[in-house]
Amino acid sequence: MVEKIDHLGIAVKNLSAGIERYEKILGLECSGIEEIDEQKVRVAMIPVDGVNLELLESTDPNGPVARFIERKGEGFHHIAFRVSDIDKEVEKLKESGVRLINEEPRIGAHGARIVFIHPGSMNGVLVELVERED
Ligand code: CO
Repeated sequence: MVEKIDHLGIAVKNLSAGIERYEKILGLECSGIEEIDEQKVRVAMIPVDGVNLELLESTDPNGPVARFIERKGEGFHHIAFRVSDIDKEVEKLKESGVRLINEEPRIGAHGARIVFIHPGSMNGVLVELVERED
């Protein structure tokens, strides 16, 4: 069961330029940068009233975010929903025939366990489920 929107993922070519833009134009403040080797990204979290913007910069020209930018350009990449029990959610989704990109949870920012639902099952939107302690 979804508890809240956890973050919105935005693909950028250059992380520091992206952060500067959100800080200067919208007056927001980056709360931290983290490199996630498994997904070949560096991410910057920018909190807005309990929801994070997650700016994503690829660390590898063949990584998923680099390929996304190549195909579609910079911009909105995914929406992430917080769930309390991701293993239970995965079971339910598999039973109902929803296409998952990964069935085994991966480790995301702040040690979160994450699963991606294929955009083909979600009206063209890449959806991430996140389980983590606050
Ligand atoms: Co994310």
